[in-house]
Amino acid sequence: MADARHHAQNGNGNGLIAILGAGSLGRLWGALLPAGAAAYIPRPNPDEKATPDLIYRFQDCQGRQYPVTLPALDRIPRKPEVLMVTTKAGDTLAALEATLPHMEPSIPVVLFQNGLGSQQAVAERWPDRPIMAASTTEGANRPDIDTTVHAGQGETWIGALTNSASSLVGPTVSRLETSGLTIHEEPNILNRLWGKLIINAGINPYTAILDCANGDILNAPLFRDTIRQLCLELAEVMHHEGLPPRSPEDMLLQIEAVARKTAKNTSSMCSDARRGKPTEIDYINGYIVRRACAHNLPAPVNQMLTEQVKRRTPASQQPQPNGPGVT
Ligand SMILES: NC(=O)c1ccc[n+]([C@@H]2O[C@H](COP(=O)([O-])OP(=O)(O)OC[C@H]3O[C@@H](n4cnc5c(N)ncnc54)[C@H](OP(=O)(O)O)[C@@H]3O)[C@@H](O)[C@H]2O)c1
Repeated sequence: MADARHHAQNGNGNGLIAILGAGSLGRLWGALLPAGAAAYIPRPNPDEKATPDLIYRFQDCQGRQYPVTLPALDRIPRKPEVLMVTTKAGDTLAALEATLPHMEPSIPVVLFQNGLGSQQAVAERWPDRPIMAASTTEGANRPDIDTTVHAGQGETWIGALTNSASSLVGPTVSRLETSGLTIHEEPNILNRLWGKLIINAGINPYTAILDCANGDILNAPLFRDTIRQLCLELAEVMHHEGLPPRSPEDMLLQIEAVARKTAKNTSSMCSDARRGKPTEIDYINGYIVRRACAHNLPAPVNQMLTEQVKRRTPASQQPQPNGPGVT
């Protein structure tokens, strides 16, 4: 089957969009951006062997499949004009340490990680670069190594983390909109990331500990016995962070509504724990614990959930929260 991407808007004549972290989310963008507009950045290659194109099958939300070829950035003579970072939170700082020295200081960097902590660490490490964060409700997964599935149509919000990013958010959104995805400029991206953190903190660790789909947590004693206290801890920490007030009752209703709406879904944390892979717990409940600590607040439920999720992951694979500003 022919590559169905919209060639009419191809990236020729424009700078490239570089994708650092060609996993589920990176390949989703690689498939939807116009043919020729995107390239991926491979893991550092000590042998300096030529890096191959990434070839995979993409399945869109309607179930249609088509092949995608995503070239490696080092084989393309054009310079990247946007850097999308779609590594897991725990890999982000190291991946950027290896990549940014080869990039123009003015290139917008868009961080797609879930949770919080990794984004601030990047902005603090490179305060003079235009660093942005994205919060997305798009869903992508890889049922096998050759296939990437767009599992859920969502929306994406992008906002500035550093001063020099502020004037570049609009042009970056326009550039990424050539994917056909819905993208908004977000003046307060940290606030929006906190909104998503509430849901992730109230669903993901329970699914990982109980090894179950999202909806199955709702009647589980672990969830019923602790979720109110978790929402109280969140509300207290958010208040001390100077965020707009959120009542614990509203958070609970929102968490339960999302768990019901996505009842059959397997969270990324549950799926990582099942495969013995590092989870992003340090950037979700672990981040709340660190912020609580910084304000001298107790966060026993978030602490307990963080420890229990880590117990399910082999010690050697647990990521460390990276960089300054996250404690
Ligand atoms: N998937 C989604 O639907 C979704 C939705 C919203 C938010 N997110 C967030 O987006 C981030 C990525 O999620 P994902 O599901 O796409 O994860 P993923 O499938 O694990 O993809 C991450 C990719 O980054 C690569 N990588 C790690 N370090 C690298 C380095 N130094 N250089 C180059 N590549 C490197 C990994 O390579 P290897 O394969 O070699 O390990 C992997 O292919 C996470 O923070 C997640 O929470 C994902």
